[in-house]
Amino acid sequence: MTDVILGIETSCDDTAAAVVSDGRLLASVVSSQTGHQRFGGVVPELASRDHQRNIVGVVRAAIDEAQLSLSDVSAVAVTYGPGLAGSLLVGLSFAKALAASLDIPLVGVNHIEGHVYSVYIDGNGPSTPYLCLVVSGGHTLLVLVEDILSHRILGSTRDDAAGEAFDKVAKMLGLPYPGGPEIDRLAQAGNPDFHAFPRSRLDGFDFSFSGLKTSVLYYLNALGADRDDYLRNHLPDICASFQMAVVDSLMDALRRAATETDTRNIAITGGVSANSSLRAAAADFCRRQDRSLYVPKFEYCMDNAAMIAVAGLLKYRAAFASDLTLTAEPGAALL
Ligand code: KG4
Ligand code: ZN
Repeated sequence: MTDVILGIETSCDDTAAAVVSDGRLLASVVSSQTGHQRFGGVVPELASRDHQRNIVGVVRAAIDEAQLSLSDVSAVAVTYGPGLAGSLLVGLSFAKALAASLDIPLVGVNHIEGHVYSVYIDGNGPSTPYLCLVVSGGHTLLVLVEDILSHRILGSTRDDAAGEAFDKVAKMLGLPYPGGPEIDRLAQAGNPDFHAFPRSRLDGFDFSFSGLKTSVLYYLNALGADRDDYLRNHLPDICASFQMAVVDSLMDALRRAATETDTRNIAITGGVSANSSLRAAAADFCRRQDRSLYVPKFEYCMDNAAMIAVAGLLKYRAAFASDLTLTAEPGAALL
């Protein structure tokens, strides 16, 4: 019998639903909320209201795109955390109601688990073990996936996530939210050696980006009255220099972890894995050391439900099911 998994993701500001059938992605629909841009970041109350408005249409669109009906679905996979409580609750309540009314299993998926297994969306994922750098707006983790659904966290950020650092520095530079893609775009025309922003190097494989963020703030403040003129001439250079500092810190830990754990298969996932400089550095590292690199397609780097459906399928096949008491866990850790 065919396993058809409906995945639902509403942990932040994207309302998403996807359908996978026997490991093949049949549909992926993401409705991105744009109302937050004028506030320079996600407003939790607005996000949950928008999810309420969007969820029925997004799930229906995914089922239609898959050319199936709800009665074909074997299980509903849903993000239970981490994320914004009000946002998580919309997807979770909807998924529970759907699973109960269809009398099919509910599979709770950790959002980070979704990013870790997003490399399997197109059907060409790595064999285990693989080392996965999860870099997004909310998380920066280095995870050793020893076997499917069996992972060890080697390192994580002690303060800001990498994407959060991109977004906050972009805001300082007067760029729109989300800042990562903007900095990436501007950095293409800039000189990464223009200014040497500090690189953090912690014991083990942990990361820290708050010192870097503060150093950009001090650098900009020191420009005083010349700031606007200076930015007009050197914005791409500052973006490129900042971006290189983030990429160097990420790559330093990734390189050391790959060597110490002797892992050949490397993955980078999450929103920041869309970054062109990070992709280039990871590709260069893997080419030189004869390792294999796995990066999801651009649309599956950002939050989406295809990754939740794929992780849900892996859990469903491992006979994992959640009961209807599953609750939103805004601070859920990757188990
Ligand atoms: O995975 P994601 O969509 O959501 C979270 O789980 O957080 O990641 C969003 C983050 C944002 O911080 C955004 O600025 C960053 O990913 N991002 C990028 C790029 N594209 C998205 N950061 C750097 N370069 C990019 N090209
Ligand atoms: Zn995410």
